[in-house]
Order: sequence, then structure tokens, then C-alpha cells
Amino acid sequence: MKVNCMIAAVVVFAVFCFAVNDVRAHMHNMMKYASVMSTDGKYQLQWAYNNETGMLYFKMKCQSTDGWCGVGFADNAVNPTGKNMENFDIAIGGFTDVGYVWDFWSTSKIRPTLDTMQDVTLMDASQMNGYTMVEFKRPANSSDTDQDVAITNDTKVWIMFGSAASDITNNSTFSQHDVRQLLPMTYNLIAMAMDAAAATDPPVTTASAAKCGGSYAVASVFLALTARFVLSS
Ligand SMILES: *[C@@H]1O[C@H](CO)[C@@H](O)[C@H](O)[C@H]1NC(C)=O
Ligand SMILES: *[C@@H]1O[C@H](CO)[C@@H](O)[C@H](O)[C@H]1NC(C)=O
Ligand SMILES: *[C@@H]1O[C@H](CO)[C@@H](O)[C@H](O)[C@H]1NC(C)=O
Ligand SMILES: *[C@@H]1O[C@H](CO)[C@@H](O)[C@H](O)[C@H]1NC(C)=O
Ligand SMILES: *[C@@H]1O[C@H](CO)[C@@H](O)[C@H](O)[C@H]1NC(C)=O
Repeated sequence: MKVNCMIAAVVVFAVFCFAVNDVRAHMHNMMKYASVMSTDGKYQLQWAYNNETGMLYFKMKCQSTDGWCGVGFADNAVNPTGKNMENFDIAIGGFTDVGYVWDFWSTSKIRPTLDTMQDVTLMDASQMNGYTMVEFKRPANSSDTDQDVAITNDTKVWIMFGSAASDITNNSTFSQHDVRQLLPMTYNLIAMAMDAAAATDPPVTTASAAKCGGSYAVASVFLALTARFVLSS
């Protein structure tokens, strides 16, 4: 009886560890993001590209305790200097009780207007330690040719950041950013995402049991339940 219980427990634990590590490996692969940060460290943008679906996944983070973050892209073939907020495809988001993000288009240094076609989808948002984080996705090349920048593997974009101290309560009348920054160079978002995805991980040297590490607590509960089941049957 005791031997059976031990065997069952070991098998369950092994299968459990295998599953946990497998899920982690998958999540890890999906989570390889390219990233840029403003020189003052107040804004960070990370992104990943799924070349099968053509979807770009963004995580933007800015120093804003209780307001919004925005990121804009301008095709340098259309706006060679990246200046004056001309032809910037902008996503602005934040977090109140729930997250929000909207798709805007900017033609000059005034409040951008909401795109008629909304092509950004909120995935997650939060506020913590003086930072606001917004995760969203958008098709790299959406079908909105008027108010979106088509981001292809040979598009170079200027990246502009903005933030404000208060949340947007009305997406057509909200007030101006408190801070705006243009990164000093252009970026090929797709190429950088592909490079990030292709980057190899450092070799894993920890033993399999150690890799399962954080799951010990869950595993013990699992083991206890299994033991109980085996003993009572
Ligand atoms: C996506 O990228 C992978 C890895 O570079 C490649 O093997 C695959 O063929 C690509 N798929 C498409 C649809 O481009
Ligand atoms: C974007 O996709 C459309 C089809 O939806 C295509 O006609 C257009 O050429 C693409 N744009 C770029 C820059 O690849
Ligand atoms: C860029 O995209 C085009 C069209 O989708 C494809 O034919 C080409 O191989 C891609 N180039 C790179 C470097 O991925
Ligand atoms: C946002 O502001 C506009 C202009 O003042 C107004 O017409 C609209 O009703 C407002 N929207 C909401 C949801 O309050
Ligand atoms: C703008 O905000 C209003 C009110 O919250 C909402 O109903 C509307 O869907 C938003 N507009 C877009 C384009 O998402």
C-alpha cells in the first residue's frame, strides 16, 4: 500500500513537473520581445511579432501614477524627420478600474483624433509603483490605409512617446500630454521583433527538479491529494 502510494506520488510529480516546464518553455518563447527605452528611462516599449498572423503585440510602460501612456509611429518614408506629430499612428491607453486603449491618428501638433476604424485591442493594463503599463495588439498592416501606418518588414518608423498625469475620461476631448518624446532614430519593428524571437537562450544548467522549483507548493497539495486518494481506495 505505502509503496503504491509512493510510486503514484512520484509519477504524478514527474508528470506535473514535465507539464509545468513545457508550459513555461512555450510561454517563454512567446515572450521574447524587442524593446526600446527613452534616454531618461521614463518610457519603455516592448513588442513581438507573429509572422503567421501578422499581429504585433506591444507592451508600453511609462512613468505615470494615475494617467495615460501613448506611443506613436510615423513611417519615415512619409515623415522623414519624425517632427510635428505629422502622420503618426498613435495608441493611447491607461488603467482606471479597467484598462483602456484607443487608436488615434495625428496630422499636426494638436490632440490626435480617434480613428474611424479602431485597430488596437487591449490585452492587459495596470498601474504600479508610479508606472502605467498597457498591453495591446494590432495588425502590423491593418486594413485602415487612411489612419494607420502599415508596418512591414521594410518599414522604418519614428517612435514617439507621450504621457499625462490624468486618465482619459472622454476619448475625444482629453487634454494634451504632459510630456512628449521622440526617439532620435528610426526602427524596423518587424526585423527587431524577428531578431528578438530568434535570439537563443543561455543554456539551462539547472536540474529538472530545480526547474520545477516554484511549483513545489502546488505540487505538495497535488501529492497530498493523490496520497489521500490512493490510501482511501
Ligand atoms: C515565420 O518565421 C519562421 C522563423 O523564422 C519561419 O520558419 C516561417 O516560415 C515564417 N512564416 C511565415 C508565414 O513567414
Ligand atoms: C497591406 O495589406 C494590403 C491588403 O490588406 C495590401 O494591399 C497592401 O499592399 C499591404 N501594404 C503593405 C505596405 O504591404
Ligand atoms: C519581407 O516580406 C516580404 C513579403 O511579405 C517577403 O517576401 C520577404 O521575404 C520578407 N523579407 C524578410 C527579410 O523577411
Ligand atoms: C465627449 O465630449 C464630446 C465633446 O464635448 C461630447 O460630445 C461627448 O458626448 C463626450 N462623450 C462622453 C462619453 O461623455
Ligand atoms: C470613446 O469613448 C466612448 C465612451 O466611453 C465609447 O463609447 C466609444 O466606444 C469610444 N470610442 C471608440 C472609438 O472606442
